[in-house]
Amino acid sequence: MTDMQVTGATGSEPVHRRAAWWRDAVVYQVYIRSFADGNGDGIGDIAGLRTRLRYLADLGVDAIWVNPWYRSPMVDGGYDVADYRAIDELFGDLDDADALIADCHALGIRVIADIVPNHTSAMHRWFQDALRAAPGSPERARYWFRRGRGLEGELPPNDWRSRFGGSAWTRVNDPDGRPGEWYLHLFDAQQPDLNWENSEVRLEFEAILRFWLDRGIDGLRIDVAHGLIKDPSLPDLGERAASEELQAPPNTIDHPHWDRDELAGIYRRWRQIADEYPGDRMFVAEAWVTSSDRLARYLDDGLLHTAFNFHFLTCKWSAQEFRGAIDTTLNSHSLVGAPPTWVLANHDEPRYVTRMGRSDRIRQAEEHAQSPGVDLALGTRRARAAALLLLALPGSAYVYQGEELGLWDVEPGVGQIQDPAFARTGRTRDGCRIPLPWSGDRAPFAFSQPPVAADDVWLPQPAAWSDLTVSAQLTSQHSMLALYRAALELRRQHPALGDGTLDWCEPHRPGVLEFTRAPGFRCVVNLSGDPIELPAGANVLLSSVAVAGGLLPPDAAAWLEAQRQSPV
Ligand code: NOJ
Ligand code: CA
Repeated sequence: MTDMQVTGATGSEPVHRRAAWWRDAVVYQVYIRSFADGNGDGIGDIAGLRTRLRYLADLGVDAIWVNPWYRSPMVDGGYDVADYRAIDELFGDLDDADALIADCHALGIRVIADIVPNHTSAMHRWFQDALRAAPGSPERARYWFRRGRGLEGELPPNDWRSRFGGSAWTRVNDPDGRPGEWYLHLFDAQQPDLNWENSEVRLEFEAILRFWLDRGIDGLRIDVAHGLIKDPSLPDLGERAASEELQAPPNTIDHPHWDRDELAGIYRRWRQIADEYPGDRMFVAEAWVTSSDRLARYLDDGLLHTAFNFHFLTCKWSAQEFRGAIDTTLNSHSLVGAPPTWVLANHDEPRYVTRMGRSDRIRQAEEHAQSPGVDLALGTRRARAAALLLLALPGSAYVYQGEELGLWDVEPGVGQIQDPAFARTGRTRDGCRIPLPWSGDRAPFAFSQPPVAADDVWLPQPAAWSDLTVSAQLTSQHSMLALYRAALELRRQHPALGDGTLDWCEPHRPGVLEFTRAPGFRCVVNLSGDPIELPAGANVLLSSVAVAGGLLPPDAAAWLEAQRQSPV
């Protein structure tokens, strides 16, 4: 946590005020289904998470973000919410959630919940009511129901695509059983899009926010924050429709349903609500937009606090790309006074070790699925270096569960695939959602308490993870876990780290990222392919590999004590 120096009311006396926690927090993402199972059914839950909080406190994180835990048919891992005020029985109940929040707070860990406002589950009461109601009814007006095109209304109302593949429209039967209207779903057909032009929808979500803020939640991650507003005339996309499916970055410029300016009205209201609560409650937006400048618009005065920086996540292993992403992020965010966030992984993307061990490709695009085997040693070296880069940058950082263990993607066999995107696209995100290995030398690695057979865990874990269990890594100084723990501890202690600014070192060495942060900190990341010299006499605070003879090998990073400026 940073202390900010601000000038006191008299204008002369500087006073120290603690900056809001979210400006430099390290947030650990808990994919709850795969974190820890507390009732022995092979599926992670709140009880399991509560038993492992000491691990997170010792790791040194400031907050956790828990993926959706609401009542849900679990068609899309809980991003299909049937009741926003209830915990799904797979994960526990509201008492468990309250107890989790209290436990976390007792350990100094904040809790960020996930809110899913773009769509509900088809099993949500509102959608069920809409199906029973007539075209033009108030029940249907909460969603996007439209007559189809064609003589019999047999064609979708427009050419919008689902992010999970195929048309974004599904036709329903009228109460008399005859084919009737179509409804919009930008994701799975079980995830109908809400109509945010409808005031009932707005009021309902304001009440849901209060429901969770009243329970002591410190923040909310907004799912598909860039999608809520649609152009009500529902114009065709034309040529752009083809690029709309999963994992292709949406072309959001002047788009009929992504990143529309009218979103600001919703988030201005949400910010007012969060600000009514004590204790710096915050939002973090999941917004896939075309540029850092567009992202910063969500963080403008009176709007959201933070947003995921996917520009950084999509960088190849290239100093030039990273530097470009860092500069544009810092510039755009400083204009609105918001702290950047840095993200390398989440539950939708292949794990970093896998991506970086596979080639320099960026995301789970076609090449990812088809490219040859993964060089895990290379991926792991790069993931270690990237962790030091991420944690040295100004702002807040996100760590996806298992990144601190150096896990890699494991694609389940076709019969075991759970991701709904697979049916429509042939691609699955299950590979990065494998349950965590805690201890022991064989699957399920103490994931479940009481213990279960390996086959009873919801996605299978590879035998090779026996070296990567938490308990195995705690006994090794050279493990990924040891690196993360050391980095997080240093980040807490070092006055230069967290919120603030950076200065690139000159002269610039090609393939090298090198910056200083005041006071007395320097970060060097070598992406050049050759060993590079560290500054003479540099005191290494932490490095991703052993540094010998003043040389930093390729695919490695070091944190150094920089010469402090002498006071003028
Ligand atoms: C983004 C979430 O991260 C992803 O897992 C989900 O499928 C979509 N939003 C739809 O809610
Ligand atoms: Ca369970």
